[in-house]
Order: sequence, then C-alpha cells, then structure tokens
Amino acid sequence: MRLRDFVIVATLLATTPAFAQETDLPDDYLTPAFHAGRRDSLRQLMPANSVAIVWAYPTRNFSNDVDYVYHQNPDLYYFTGYKEPHSLFLLFKEPQTAADGSTYKELLFVQKRNAQAEQWTGKRLGVEGAKQKLGLTHVYNGEDFKNTAIDFSKFEKIILDRLPTDIANSLYDNADLYDLIQQLKEKAQITDNYAQDKRFSTALFRQYTGQLREIKTAEELVLLRKAVEISCQGQAEVMKAVRPDMSEREAQGLHEFVHKKYGAEHVGYPSIVGAGNNGCVLHYQENEKLHVENRMVLMDVGAEYHGYTADVTRTVPANGKFTPEQKAIYELVYEAQEAAFKLCKEGTTWQELDKVSRGVIADGLLKLGIISKKEEANKYYPHGLGHHIGLDVHDRNASTKLKKGMVITIEPGIYIPENSPCDKKWWTIAVRIEDDLLIREKDYELLSWAAPRKISEIEKLVAEKSPLDNFTLPKLQSAKKGF
Ligand code: GLY
Ligand code: MN
Ligand code: MN
Repeated sequence: MRLRDFVIVATLLATTPAFAQETDLPDDYLTPAFHAGRRDSLRQLMPANSVAIVWAYPTRNFSNDVDYVYHQNPDLYYFTGYKEPHSLFLLFKEPQTAADGSTYKELLFVQKRNAQAEQWTGKRLGVEGAKQKLGLTHVYNGEDFKNTAIDFSKFEKIILDRLPTDIANSLYDNADLYDLIQQLKEKAQITDNYAQDKRFSTALFRQYTGQLREIKTAEELVLLRKAVEISCQGQAEVMKAVRPDMSEREAQGLHEFVHKKYGAEHVGYPSIVGAGNNGCVLHYQENEKLHVENRMVLMDVGAEYHGYTADVTRTVPANGKFTPEQKAIYELVYEAQEAAFKLCKEGTTWQELDKVSRGVIADGLLKLGIISKKEEANKYYPHGLGHHIGLDVHDRNASTKLKKGMVITIEPGIYIPENSPCDKKWWTIAVRIEDDLLIREKDYELLSWAAPRKISEIEKLVAEKSPLDNFTLPKLQSAKKGF
C-alpha cells in the first residue's frame, strides 16, 4: 500500500487504537544524564544573554511517496537524544520566565502523537514520551511553537546553524519542519541576510558544537568502540569469504549483514567496495562489478551504532595472495600509516601527521619509479590523511591540535588508475588502509585492532573457510523472456 492511500483512509477512520510496538530493545542507549551534561556544557560556553537553536534534519524523498530512512541531525541527537523529524530545540543561557511566572532553560518542540500516522511510520515519543525517556522538562507539540511567546529581540546572541533552504512543506501537517523554521524566522526576525547580522552567529554554533563533540565522553566511547569493533568483524568476515567470483555488492552485503547481526542500525556512509580500478574512485558507491576477479578489493565500510559511526578501510587480494606490485604499494601505505601512528598523541597537529605520511609515500613512489619528482606524489595520494569520527563520519571539531579524548581516522592511500603515466604493471592498484584511533595524552589506542592489517594476517584470513563457502541460493527463474 502507498502512503498516499493513508490520507484517504485516515479521514475515514475516526478512531484507530494507539499503535504499540514491541519492547525488546537494546539497553545501551545514551542516557538522559549524558544529554543533560552536554546541554550544561553548551550553556557554559555560551555568552551572557544568548540562546542556541537546533532543529531536526528534514525528511528526504526517495521515490514518489516513499522517503529515505530518516536520520536525525547529530547536533539535536547529541543535546536531546530525540530521534524524530519535525522538531526544534532552544537552549537559553539564563533561565527564562514564562507568562505564568514559572522558569525554564530549554524548550523542545516534538512531533505530536497521531495514531493513524503511527500505524504507518511507527511510534512517536510525543510530549509525555519525550519527558519520560529523555528527561527533558519543557516539551511541547510542534504546533504549540507558533503561540509560544519568546522575545528574541532581547538576546544579544542567537546561536544557530545555517538555516535549511530546501525543506518541503507538507500539506497535511501544520507543524512540520518547514512551518517551525518559518515561525522561527518570524519570531526572531531572521531575514535573508542574517549571515551579515552580528546578532546571529553560525560561527559560534559550529565552534561550540565542535569544541564539545571533538572530545568524546566515556559514554560516547562505549558506543564508538562498539561501532568500530563491529565494522572490523565485518572486514574480517569478508576477508574469509572473499573469492574472485564474488561481486562487489555481495561483499557489501556481507559487511552490512555482520553490522546488523551485531545490532548496528545503519552504515555511517554509503559502503565503498571497489575491486581493481574501482578502488581508485575515493567515494565509489556503485559497487556494481559482478566479479572482483583476481583484483585487490578496497573496502571502506563503517557501522553506525546508536548514532556513532566507525570508518574502517581494508584492501585485500581476492585470491588471497598479494602480487609483488600489490605488496610494494600496500607496504608503502602501511609504512605511511605507521609513521603517522607514532605521532598520535596530545599536541600533534594534522599538518605534522600529514607531512610525515605524505613524505613516506613520496619517497616510496620515487624509489619504485612510479613518480620522478616528489611533488607528483599527490597525484596518487589525492586526499587528506584523516578526520574526526563520532556522530558524523566526518565529525565536527574545533581544535587544530590533537587532544586526549578525540577519535580520529588515519587513512593514507595510493591509487594508480589505468593509463597513469607509469609502468602499466602498477595500473589499477588502489590501496587505502584506514584505522580509528582514540587519542591519549602520550599515545593512542587503536580502536580498529580487530581488523587485520598486516599482509601476512590478511593472507592467512583470506585462506580461512567462511560460512558463505557452503551458502547457495536457488537459480533464479526470472530470466524467461516475454509474456
Ligand atoms: N569513508 C569516508 C572516508 O574515509 O572519509
Ligand atoms: Mn575516513
Ligand atoms: Mn573511510
């Protein structure tokens, strides 16, 4: 049935019983105390007489009346734990006084409960659920925002992200994100050139959320460690299962099956599984090659567990044996990664890390005769060394130096596409090795330890048996032509 039918049916059904979902759920979600702590920390950073405003990500259309699986704005999730669309959160530096004399310091506007809608798209927390589950005290339905009296003119700073400009306005909902943003613009007198108005600051929003989110708390690390370990188990299972006749998509499916088996909700970014030349496309997403053949397979796949995403890449020979050329390139990338690892501790800058890894790769490519001048190395190593991970795969950050509690990737790579100006024996070799590290005061913890990275370990694992070796499906009958 289509969602469009719902509009018709919903008008016919006067009373549908509230839809109850099963309650066999994980018990390791972030706690209300965690989110409250994050809100307090944001408040401490904010200047006197200011308000911070965060809204949900819009829903996105996938096909006709079907939407993509919804993903919350990580900032809203971080500060509240609320995972539904069409919501708005305001956090005040100083307590505010309502018309009835009571005070509040935060307001959350949520999707209203709606039995018919919930039968189609699942349970909503609603006002009472959000109070109970998230521990917030001042929660209202989105439709109440319109009549909530907030005098925005008295604030010296209104701290907010860049306003979304491409949200659909649903005909069936008078308190969807579009309406909430329109009402916010009217109430706070946000004009089209708000970026030039000093009362509004998107820079402070990015700075504060960066400062907070770049340092992981103990609670966040539990989830991030798990997301990374799950991803590594996915890598290890695919290493065992990979064979030259496997397709890129099958390998992707096995990664994602392992993620799901361990309870991960999503992938943190579209899975990248590229054999041979396809590995040279840095964010290759088609994963369409039917047989990986005797190629190197570059697999950059990260599980998202309760919002936190890993980012792990392994590159393996599908037939279980590195050729001398593949080995030479792999060892160079490995060496560049090891050199960067050694510097991973408090105080190191990304420039220092980048310089050392780029130096190793440039020297190595020169020695192998793939380039004739060091400056040419970037042609084969065309991306940065790494980034923060967390609620976003390319996570928010604010500092230039590494600090204890940051979680970063270190991911050098060498990509030699077909027809490159070097001996053709190197063509189609693409290697990226990407690991996730927790920065400590004097060193780091390798979070992605569970995915083998040494050549000998990889060759050993590919030679192992896999449960998929004996997994067959019936031959499809649908190849018959015509009527
Ligand atoms: N998976 C995307 C990246 O490595 O940055
Ligand atoms: Mn990455
Ligand atoms: Mn990656």
